[in-house]
Amino acid sequence: MEIRYELKSEKERRSEPLQPSEPLPFGVLRTDHMFIMDYEEGEWKNARIVPYGDIPIAPGAITLHYGQAIFEGAKAFCHDDGEIYTFRIDKNAKRMNKSADILCIPNIPEEIQIEAVHSLIDVDRLWFPKQEGASLYIRPFIFATQDSLGVHPSSSYKFMVIMSPSGPYYPAGFTKPIKLLITERFHRAAPGGTGSSKAAGNYAASLRAGEFAKKFGASQVLYLDTTNTYIEEAGAMNHFHITKEGEVVIPEFVDSVLRSITSESIMELSDRLDIKVTQKRVKIKEFIEEVKAKNITEAGGLGTAAVISPVGEYAFEDGGTLVVGDGNIGPNTRKIYEYYTGIQTGKVEAPEGWLKKVERKV
Ligand SMILES: Cc1ncc(COP(=O)(O)O)c(C=O)c1O
Repeated sequence: MEIRYELKSEKERRSEPLQPSEPLPFGVLRTDHMFIMDYEEGEWKNARIVPYGDIPIAPGAITLHYGQAIFEGAKAFCHDDGEIYTFRIDKNAKRMNKSADILCIPNIPEEIQIEAVHSLIDVDRLWFPKQEGASLYIRPFIFATQDSLGVHPSSSYKFMVIMSPSGPYYPAGFTKPIKLLITERFHRAAPGGTGSSKAAGNYAASLRAGEFAKKFGASQVLYLDTTNTYIEEAGAMNHFHITKEGEVVIPEFVDSVLRSITSESIMELSDRLDIKVTQKRVKIKEFIEEVKAKNITEAGGLGTAAVISPVGEYAFEDGGTLVVGDGNIGPNTRKIYEYYTGIQTGKVEAPEGWLKKVERKV
């Protein structure tokens, strides 16, 4: 792919490594540049890296009215050798195309998506936050640009990548378990819907549930399937629990659940971790009984941003609560977190192909 570079002048752009004196919040800061590519007349073209800034969009653009938009969330890490490595970025590229299929958006070859991300990181490498536990959060996204009020797939799109230097998700260390609300009131996705994609609309639809959860002191809801029988997701994370025998259980990737790269990675690491990881449908009633009986001793959410968010307790709408184990972070959860972040940061040897070095081109 040929990329046109329209970079900020030396004076306007960062000239020394970012060395924040305070912990950086997650997802707030932006780097100097962004990647853009257009889809017009049946092909992806005009790849460019330009200064980060506003973009013109037609008021009738399909994305603004009908939400034909998808995104990804990935991370890159700086290792002790001073080089930057993306983590499982091929998985993100593959999932972007799966989301694209579900939203009737034209695919972008995986290698082109990866090149877009790596070229942008290369240009903005001085933005890598030099802080223990920090990472560069990468947000590729595609949205429909055709100016049309008819409901149909757009004939034009933009693929863009922006980046956010982010501090550690747990600035105070991996210490505070979260609370999830168990409710039958909201559902994230239905069979045959868009739940297995990262469609922007899935997140718009989740806001009301998130706000409701806050009324109970919970950070998110535990989503059940539409029959209120099975556990599906933990807010914008996959859910997991660990039995007292140390078996990790992740709900099956049915059509209404997002295939989390973190969950897949932990399944792939089970031998190295010497932990049994199983996927199956998990009945909410049995889950509650088993937590009460202390047969389930750890639980949490899995996702790129936090890696693992341990759940200390579940809340119910009637004011009741269900404490998991002793309410603190369990030993298996901690072991997984430490091993996984060790791989990402280059302290533990990564499985073949998980980390891709960002080559120096500019
Ligand atoms: C609904 C949902 N489930 C699960 C995940 C976790 O996926 P991943 O581990 O690929 O970040 C995410 C975040 O991307 C999400 O939005």
